[in-house]
Amino acid sequence: MLTVYAPCLNHRLTPQIKDASLAMLCDSGTMNGSATFLAEAQALLGPRGVTLDGELMAPWLTDWRGRYTGRALALASPASTEELSALVRLCALHRVPIVPQGGNSGMSGGATPDASGQAILLSLRRMNAIRAVDADARQATCEAGVVLQTLHEAAGNQGLRFPLTLGGKGSATVGGLISTNAGGTQVLRHGSMRALVLGLEAVLADGSVFSALTPLKKDNRGFDLKQLLIGSEGTLGIVTAATLRLIPAVAGRSVIWAGVPSLQTARALLLHCEDIAGNALEGFEILPGDCLGTVLDYLPGARPPLAGRHEWHALIEVVADAADAELLGERAEALLAAALERGLVEDATIAASEAQAEAFWLLRESISAAERARGPAMQHDISVPIERMPDFVDTAKARIEEDWPGTEAIAYGHLGDGNVHLHVLAPPGSERAAWEAGDGKAISRQVHELVTAWGGSISAEHGIGQLKVDELARLADPVQLAMMRAVKRALDPAGLLNPGKLVTLAPPEGTA
Ligand code: MLT
Ligand code: ZN
Repeated sequence: MLTVYAPCLNHRLTPQIKDASLAMLCDSGTMNGSATFLAEAQALLGPRGVTLDGELMAPWLTDWRGRYTGRALALASPASTEELSALVRLCALHRVPIVPQGGNSGMSGGATPDASGQAILLSLRRMNAIRAVDADARQATCEAGVVLQTLHEAAGNQGLRFPLTLGGKGSATVGGLISTNAGGTQVLRHGSMRALVLGLEAVLADGSVFSALTPLKKDNRGFDLKQLLIGSEGTLGIVTAATLRLIPAVAGRSVIWAGVPSLQTARALLLHCEDIAGNALEGFEILPGDCLGTVLDYLPGARPPLAGRHEWHALIEVVADAADAELLGERAEALLAAALERGLVEDATIAASEAQAEAFWLLRESISAAERARGPAMQHDISVPIERMPDFVDTAKARIEEDWPGTEAIAYGHLGDGNVHLHVLAPPGSERAAWEAGDGKAISRQVHELVTAWGGSISAEHGIGQLKVDELARLADPVQLAMMRAVKRALDPAGLLNPGKLVTLAPPEGTA
């Protein structure tokens, strides 16, 4: 094989790149642009840093929901910020698009390349060092490839915690969580990723390094540039490391499972919990009775927390610090007793052990996977002002199920944040691709129009990715959209960073 490339290469070739894919890129003994780029990339990153191996790339070319499959020129895995910076410079020179990817657990196809095969897929998973956990400053500085669960453990070892968690914690990475401004189940108390990033390092489109890892509590020198990068889905820069806020570990928690008759009552229960528990309220999640049934069918050995059937369920977490840990049980019981007296819950139970608390949370965190296994569905991740959410869900459900006979709309998730995941299940027997492209698409448009009319957001938590790029262009406020495009143009004029995601430079056809 080597003789094939020898005439057209000035660069050191390593075994991984000496494969058939590269041979195909050579044109009659003359290296074309892609092959030159790949050889130079490999010279920069070394043999572990670039692969063209289809089998190695395959798992990363389809998104978690299985909605998008793309192609890539290569999978690049730099081992350091310096390597990434050099690679991005090279990409800029050769005009090669870059699709950054964290744990590939995103919900909007934001980390999946398009079908052209022109882009490189960029994995930050080799950059997975926790550079420091500073217990005194209550900060952790970690690289983009650190998995959330690993960060939880590192913080826990110092008597601290990182207060963001979600179902994909075993695979989601810090870089991906920052790039998508991830939420999860503790946003109610601690905010989304935006609120937890104190300092940031990122590589920009020209390869320069934005270096602002050292946090200052007060810094009023104009724009907060790191906030521009957070939630930009890799379209403005590639997050390489961050300094994150840690807080003291909780000394105890009470996890309550409550059956409630309606979403309106669930909202009243939320207010009740806020009034009584105040800052100790860490989580308030809701799920309909049918949705719990789906999870119980999906999880082997799972048991329902309550004996009877309820229209809605609420999962509530109240925490305590060392000073009041002993009173926690009593307080949770008092909170529940008052709720029962006010008719806010039909039945409820408090987890009797940490294992049971975990089991309750597992039911909640498995909804997404259980729903995915159930069949074709359109997922909407929406928010409206919290006080309007119960009416919104009732209105949306009624309208969709009436307009699209045979569908079933379910809403679950973060009532405490005014954010629910509104999934619309296809009529039984529907063929996935045809339904999603036809009725499914029309349903999503209707949901997004309704959300917009109610003053809400078409993406409360999961980002825009490629899933909602057209819908954002169609429904966003024109002034805000123009500002987003101006920022994109300023920071990535060639449009090489995660093209086709979040905001495109030219408005998609038929919009704007
Ligand atoms: C969740 O809240 O479970 C996740 O955001 C995923 C989802 O179901 O859409
Ligand atoms: Zn969610």
